[in-house]
Amino acid sequence: MSGRYDDILKSLMGLGENSTHKNYYSDLQGKTAELERFKELLNHSSEEICLFKLNQWEIVDVNKTLSDRIGIAEEHLIGKGIGEIYDFGEDELENISSFDRVTIEKSVKVLGREIYLEISIKNVEFEDGLYGVLMARDITDRKEAEQQLLNSQENLKKLNSELIKAKEKAENADRAKSMFLANMSHEIRTPMHGIMGMVELMYTTNLSEEQKEYIDNLQSSSEILMGIISDILDISKIEAGKMEIVYHEFDIIKSIEKIIDNFAITAHKKGIELILYIDKNVPQTILSDEGKIRQILINLIGNAIKFTEKGNVVLRVNTVFTEEDRIIMQFEVEDSGIGMSSETMKQLFIPFMQGDISYKKRYQGTGLGLAISKKFTELLGGTIEVESAPGVGSKFTVEIGCKYVSGRESEKSEGEDLFIKSVIIAVDDNPVNRMIVGKMLSDRKIKHFLADKSVLKF
Ligand SMILES: Nc1ncnc2c1ncn2[C@@H]1O[C@H](COP(=O)(O)OP(=O)(O)O)[C@@H](O)[C@H]1O
Ligand SMILES: [Mg+2]
Repeated sequence: MSGRYDDILKSLMGLGENSTHKNYYSDLQGKTAELERFKELLNHSSEEICLFKLNQWEIVDVNKTLSDRIGIAEEHLIGKGIGEIYDFGEDELENISSFDRVTIEKSVKVLGREIYLEISIKNVEFEDGLYGVLMARDITDRKEAEQQLLNSQENLKKLNSELIKAKEKAENADRAKSMFLANMSHEIRTPMHGIMGMVELMYTTNLSEEQKEYIDNLQSSSEILMGIISDILDISKIEAGKMEIVYHEFDIIKSIEKIIDNFAITAHKKGIELILYIDKNVPQTILSDEGKIRQILINLIGNAIKFTEKGNVVLRVNTVFTEEDRIIMQFEVEDSGIGMSSETMKQLFIPFMQGDISYKKRYQGTGLGLAISKKFTELLGGTIEVESAPGVGSKFTVEIGCKYVSGRESEKSEGEDLFIKSVIIAVDDNPVNRMIVGKMLSDRKIKHFLADKSVLKF
């Protein structure tokens, strides 16, 4: 510091030399040393410090940091206008004189380079008038970092909006494609039904053995084709958000029995036992979407038979009552087939996913059945789960909440009452079948014995 404090120091020194009072003189020396230290402190501050006369705006004192930055010696800065050094405009000067304390952030040019300063000014009153104490620090690094952050935020925003646009475009294209397929559904299915109907009719004409064989092939091929078309159209309809649930009351027992009847021949041809167990709790009539439940079960049972070479495929149907008229229908499809690896299980419900490539040669399919079944289950507010072990078999469990409409009590056959007084010997060579028949008889409190075929030898 120079100027004001130097003047004071000089006059104090003069006082000390001339004083006849030694104590007074040493006091002054102490004060002088204190001022020297204070001066050092201010000069070594990383902040620019400057004292100026308020309203005249004339610099009275500066520290070394300020004079170093602008490259003008301290003594030459005294008397200069503060507005000139810090490039203050009229408004800023007005603010400084009106408020006790002001903080200003601004950029100033130093040797052609722009730097940012945070300037804080406090007004103080000394005996000889009003002064301003100005402290300024260089915040260029912080400002540049802030600017960089802003720039990268801008870039991110731009990138994000481009990504959103691209995603929307892809989704629109995808939806348009699915919509097209969903709308085409009717157009594609109608001629297929025509072909299949005609094939049916040809069986009623006089056919040679050779022609019958051709027609058999034509029929099974068109059925496979119809299955594939139906699956593709269904998945498109689901993905286009056009698949709707139609709730109505229906006979769930009849519906299940019909499905099992339809699969009986295929299972029999493969030498597989197709077993149905319906728990006595299962109601006769429920409110749900029969078509969707049927399709889920057809897919699961179809898969179970397809991927099982020997043993059983069991459909177990159970009901859990939740509230008064709300139930959970539980369907379990269990097989003793090839099972699945954990890898296959992870991707099981993804459209077009099929297990081990080598299966594809042996087993027909599109890989859509499970994806459709899962979507249908979800649309019905239910869940689908799978347990499986390679070489042991698989078990799919579907649970769907439905409304209970009417139970089976009224339909209890007279025959059932008659059996209550009898003892039944149930004979079946298949242990799973025996267990299920046993459970059904126990449920109905009918005395029974279970036996395999060997009893027939007696
Ligand atoms: N019961 C099952 N046993 C073994 N593998 C199964 C079973 N059900 C499904 N999978 C596996 O899941 C895949 C997908 O099944 P799905 O979606 O019905 O398609 P697809 O039957 O047309 O192959 C099958 O290819 C098969 O690898
Ligand atoms: Mg399938």
